[in-house]
Amino acid sequence: MKLKAFLFLSFLFITTNYSKENISIIPKPLKLEISSGEFVFNQSTKIWIDPGKEMETLGNYFTDFINHKTGLKLLATWKMTQDIPKSLVRIEFKNDFKNDEAYSLSIKPNVIKISAKTGAGIFYAFQTLFQLFSPNERQNKIQCLNIYDEPRFQWRGAHLDVCRHFFPIEFVKKYIDILSMYKMNRFHWHLTEDQGWRIEIKKYPKLTEIGAWRKDINGNLYGGFYTQEQIKDVIEYAKKKYITIIPEIEMPGHSVAALSAYPELSCSGGPFEVETNWGIFKDVFCAGNDSTFNFLQNILSEVIDLFPSDIIHIGGDEVPKDRWKECLKCQLRMKTENLKDEHELQSYFIHRIEKFVNSKGKKIIGWDEILEGGLAPNALVMSWRGVSGGIAAAKEKHYVVMSPGTHCYFDHYQALQNEPKAIGGYTSLEKVYSYEPIPSELNDDEAKYILGAQANLWTEYIETTDHVEYMLLPRLIALSEVVWSDKNSKNLDDFLSRIKKHYDLLISKNINFRIPTPLQDENEILFSNETKVVFNKPIENSKIFFTIDGTEPTTNSIVYKEPLVIENDLLIKAKTFLPNGKSSSVSTVQFSKIDSTFNGIFYKYFEGVFDSIPNFSNLKPTREGKIYKLNLRELKPEKESFAVSISGYINIEKDDNYKFYLSSDDGSKLLINNKILIDNDGSHSLREMTNSIFLTKGKVPFEIQYFNKWGSSNLKLEFETSDSKRKSISANMLLSN
Ligand code: ACM
Ligand code: ZN
Repeated sequence: MKLKAFLFLSFLFITTNYSKENISIIPKPLKLEISSGEFVFNQSTKIWIDPGKEMETLGNYFTDFINHKTGLKLLATWKMTQDIPKSLVRIEFKNDFKNDEAYSLSIKPNVIKISAKTGAGIFYAFQTLFQLFSPNERQNKIQCLNIYDEPRFQWRGAHLDVCRHFFPIEFVKKYIDILSMYKMNRFHWHLTEDQGWRIEIKKYPKLTEIGAWRKDINGNLYGGFYTQEQIKDVIEYAKKKYITIIPEIEMPGHSVAALSAYPELSCSGGPFEVETNWGIFKDVFCAGNDSTFNFLQNILSEVIDLFPSDIIHIGGDEVPKDRWKECLKCQLRMKTENLKDEHELQSYFIHRIEKFVNSKGKKIIGWDEILEGGLAPNALVMSWRGVSGGIAAAKEKHYVVMSPGTHCYFDHYQALQNEPKAIGGYTSLEKVYSYEPIPSELNDDEAKYILGAQANLWTEYIETTDHVEYMLLPRLIALSEVVWSDKNSKNLDDFLSRIKKHYDLLISKNINFRIPTPLQDENEILFSNETKVVFNKPIENSKIFFTIDGTEPTTNSIVYKEPLVIENDLLIKAKTFLPNGKSSSVSTVQFSKIDSTFNGIFYKYFEGVFDSIPNFSNLKPTREGKIYKLNLRELKPEKESFAVSISGYINIEKDDNYKFYLSSDDGSKLLINNKILIDNDGSHSLREMTNSIFLTKGKVPFEIQYFNKWGSSNLKLEFETSDSKRKSISANMLLSN
């Protein structure tokens, strides 16, 4: 093995000069012109605002920030003098903006002018201006420029599930702070679930006395809820940040916590306990019982009185129909209402709730299941099972918020390796950035019904506030640009260069985030002669340490200075370390040199829903061909449900005992010399199995069989020998014949 590294010292120049590169505003403004010079805040700078309560609040918010950044104690006043001050910040309402959230920001050497039609516009101008300051240092000068800016979409949302895990009110405020920094304007507060009811309802105290608490596996009570006073406080707080809170009260499903308090509203009568497991549960509100509707309407009345939002989320997702099929009352309801099946009963349920909510002057939004059995007349739809629900609703002229699992589910993994346990999926920062909320299936008229997009953060596997922040960031920053900025200005490289400053901003505000890893998100990279390995260093003051002996990098490992040139196989493990002691997860990449004999291995791909590995000899593959690395990504499965056979030869270097490890989600089998060595079949989550075999030097035929029924798909084959550590089968050990 030969490793050529250029180990010259590189010096970091810290510059206080302004250049276009220093302007790292996210989301990117619609029009931005940098001009020469800078505005200097000083003792005699005047802050002139329009009269009025809202402007006064905004003015104080602005001067607090300036005080924090410059140390200057300036006052916002509307008492203007005849003489124009030498140093002036003028903040004013102007009517000549078409978009309510638009603003203009002009910074000249003697005057900063901020104008907008509404407080929201002024607030967004501030967020932009704040980003012109260094995150860490005191600074009293900012670059001269001209900005005109307005959002592309009116719904720029993020959701938080406080039911699977409960988070304190202070954290909910911090979450709102983070959203507001990026000009997001909707907070979707998921308040009720099978595993916990989190909002005080005065008329039904048992909802929180009983429904807010579950027994954990040790029998301890876990839970919590927000009082209406606390909720009012959060609503006020959010209002100052121009964020509307959309409360979600789930019905008719995801309601075991409510039913544990009021079992008489179920079909069976119970009893129930607040759920401790994750999933979809069959006990739902009885749709045949008028008391159910009275109960939910009374709850919604309190919710509507509390929340100023003109839209209330009523859930509607994942409603098993099992109990309704067995329930006399539900069946009777179907008969009297002339409903042909239980989907129509669900539709009846939502229609009836909608009618009530509409009578209170509000609208409902629901998950895309509310399309089934017929959409309620005025309902909005939140498209989460992909985009098809959103497309269908927009074609029916219903407003839509896009939050497809593929791009907007922030409970999914952010990278393919070494991430904390998540629910599944793979939604990287780049993937979020690539999201386009308007599906190409819609014409211009239909596209008008897409209000915007939203991130959803479910917390089954997220127990701490630190972990919530980790899952939210940096992905939310990418989403903010998707929903705010001009589609045509999108540029990933430009975004990735601008986001660097934002990592420093998050650090300075004590907000946790996923620290980017130094290497590409790949298990194996193939090269032929030599390759240059350039480590990714997205955070200015971070350091990268790496190893080439398979051990975990620490701050005692090799420090990265220059790109490495490698000419032979090399396993690199690398980590980013921040000055505050935090570090990224490990990048583990096998660099494999391939020569002219390298010819890949065979695969056969079968679409279909299987419960175990099918008999491939009886099936015709959907497609077949060659792959060059042993992993599922190489196969580019188009569907969630599929099976695959991968076969060829492993080049065994020496006679030895080989211990293989096969892990998969769902099932898999390893065949060596045409005999099953490991049988890890069946529908299951990630599970590893192992077995050993003595192999002699030379080519050994192998086959891996695998299937995925639903959810995340995973397959990994590793081995160890008497003198080598456990490692994956690299591409240059594989042969097709
Ligand atoms: C959902 O993710 N069940 C809306
Ligand atoms: Zn029933």
